[in-house]
Amino acid sequence: MAALVDTAREVARHLLETPLPRRWSHVQAVAAKADRISAAVPAEDREVLVASAWLHDVGYSPDLVDTGFHSLDGGRWLCRQRFNTRIAALVAHHSCAWLEAEERGLGEVLAAEFPREETAVTDALCCSDMTTGPDGQDFEVLERLAEIRSRYGPEHLVTRFISRAEPEMVAAVRRTQRLLADSVRQPI
Ligand SMILES: [Fe+2]
Repeated sequence: MAALVDTAREVARHLLETPLPRRWSHVQAVAAKADRISAAVPAEDREVLVASAWLHDVGYSPDLVDTGFHSLDGGRWLCRQRFNTRIAALVAHHSCAWLEAEERGLGEVLAAEFPREETAVTDALCCSDMTTGPDGQDFEVLERLAEIRSRYGPEHLVTRFISRAEPEMVAAVRRTQRLLADSVRQPI
């Protein structure tokens, strides 16, 4: 299974490091955080979590932009590459992407193409992404959401999406933090 993480990292590096170095910094930090908080998910899911973190933003790569909605584009590309289907679905739906899909008129398309799991893995992936800034810096989730709003501006579709998604994103982060605290109290 470690091979899965290694493959995911190299795929992401190939797609992001040169064309999108800032995005690559973010992705490296998100993957490192997913690894650090992986005790919040069952042992058998940890490599899926970290591999998904490496791949969650590949849809921004100019090599594979299709609809312009990075979560869907990344998930579709991973499917075309016959990558692990659970990871493709986690990427397609990461960080409340279904709400952004609705804003873009792609809600039904996303739901039809990819099953959405709702587990500690989806929470931990959202937590890793939503507590890591665009340069890889650590953020509290509410700071991160404010940073996204200020980067895109009040009228932007992404800002509307973030406003709708905020309660679920914050809840996912808090659930992950609680599981992590529990895992410290009960060594596994
Ligand atoms: Fe991200």
